[in-house]
Amino acid sequence: MFEKMHKGEADGTYSPHTTATKKPTLEAMSDVPSDLSAAVQELENIFTISSAKLNSITDHFVEELEKGLTGEGANIPMNVTWVFGFPTGNEEGEYVTLDMGGTNLRVCYVVLTNRRGEYKILQDKCPLPDGLKSGTAEQLWGFVADCTGKFLRENNLVHPGKKEKLPLSFTFSFPVTQANIRSGILQRWTKGFDVDGVEGHDVVPQLEKAFAEKNVPVEIVAVVNDTTGTLIASAYQDPEIKIGSIFSTGVNAAYMERFKAIPKIRSHNLPDDTEIAINTEYGAFDNDKKVLPRTRFDDQIDQESARPGQQLYEKMVAGLYVGELLRCVFLELHHRGLLFRGRDITAVQEKSGLDSAFMSTVEQNNTKSMAGIAEECKRLFGFEPELYELEVIRFLTKLIATRAARLYACGIAAVARKQGLERCHVGVDGSVFHCYAHFQERAAQALKEIMDWPEEDPQRITLVSAQDGSGVGAALIAALALRRSQ
Ligand code: BGC
Repeated sequence: MFEKMHKGEADGTYSPHTTATKKPTLEAMSDVPSDLSAAVQELENIFTISSAKLNSITDHFVEELEKGLTGEGANIPMNVTWVFGFPTGNEEGEYVTLDMGGTNLRVCYVVLTNRRGEYKILQDKCPLPDGLKSGTAEQLWGFVADCTGKFLRENNLVHPGKKEKLPLSFTFSFPVTQANIRSGILQRWTKGFDVDGVEGHDVVPQLEKAFAEKNVPVEIVAVVNDTTGTLIASAYQDPEIKIGSIFSTGVNAAYMERFKAIPKIRSHNLPDDTEIAINTEYGAFDNDKKVLPRTRFDDQIDQESARPGQQLYEKMVAGLYVGELLRCVFLELHHRGLLFRGRDITAVQEKSGLDSAFMSTVEQNNTKSMAGIAEECKRLFGFEPELYELEVIRFLTKLIATRAARLYACGIAAVARKQGLERCHVGVDGSVFHCYAHFQERAAQALKEIMDWPEEDPQRITLVSAQDGSGVGAALIAALALRRSQ
């Protein structure tokens, strides 16, 4: 195993999956006890995904995306967003936008100036109190309305006596069924949210009730997924964008589909070539466990989650889960007497005690002494692991993060393959995409393996940092919706 674990360290971009032999960085591994080394070897085997497997996952993914458009018993919802086509650049107006993310509520005031790519934005963030994610609907919407009201007052956007309400575009990053753009029935909570009384209900009247009770003068004109906002905002700046994606707490993508390819809305009788954005909600890919190379740790994460059996792809890939996967691996090794022997591991036992930020810190630390990793472990676990344990921690972190990046690439490749996209840009937003060391090059490498591009033209589909989807993207969608309704 040591030989194998030395492979592929290319200027700090080590991937357990690359085969090129580069400078070894795991000298300390020679001190790893043989039983731990054998256990790590087994983990390497189960967490490594070959190019061939990536390809068969992508093929199945394409079938699932197509099935979702028919609406017949599919895993992937392929939600119709009623966002018709890309912005022209002439959109204008003033909008309030709200984005209920995993950790913050972001409120913005966006002015679109009718010159492509030009806009003004004022914004504020309110941290979401912890209990809110598993409280009641009234608490959640009350908090959202309070923050919105405060933002409008502080920025002098409320004019007493003025009858007209400000149009509000609500980025609600969960799967919703939409009969039209200003409604959204929550299909299910994801990303650990578990608020009573919202699943199966339209979120618009619930939130509007809270706005009315708290005298917040806004009117919801659009319910938007973060991926659709990203798609629209990115395409506003860069016409090469064909897919919008989020890689953060959760994972998902949106793209434009032609009406004739969406059998489940055939009764709407639109012209065949009408373009409509589809929010794939592909975090639910392979919920029926046909193709993903699941490990016992993935099963554990799922079983211990708020919604077992759902979002199975997301639970193997996204930021909310990778740290937890790593923690479960550490615990198993400890229980087998192989890691952190004789240590007080109370802190490691704490659910969700490790996150993707920890993993990124570990991966950024390329020094031989691994002092930065030791420090981070001391802070989180309350003890400093042995040098050989730090080496194992670094190796396992790379293993799990690399698997996530490679699986992430399958979703993007599947949308591209299904749409016959030979070349395009993919606008990607999300803290993990932007901040996680090496994620972008690992995902790009996996895309290249799946798409099999020739050496002389290696990167035909490029992941690019997305523009502000929940601010300008949501505002553009509101402008498109209002223009259409007129
Ligand atoms: C949600 C999607 C969202 C994604 C990224 C998933 O859990 O279901 O609606 O786009 O997370 O935020």
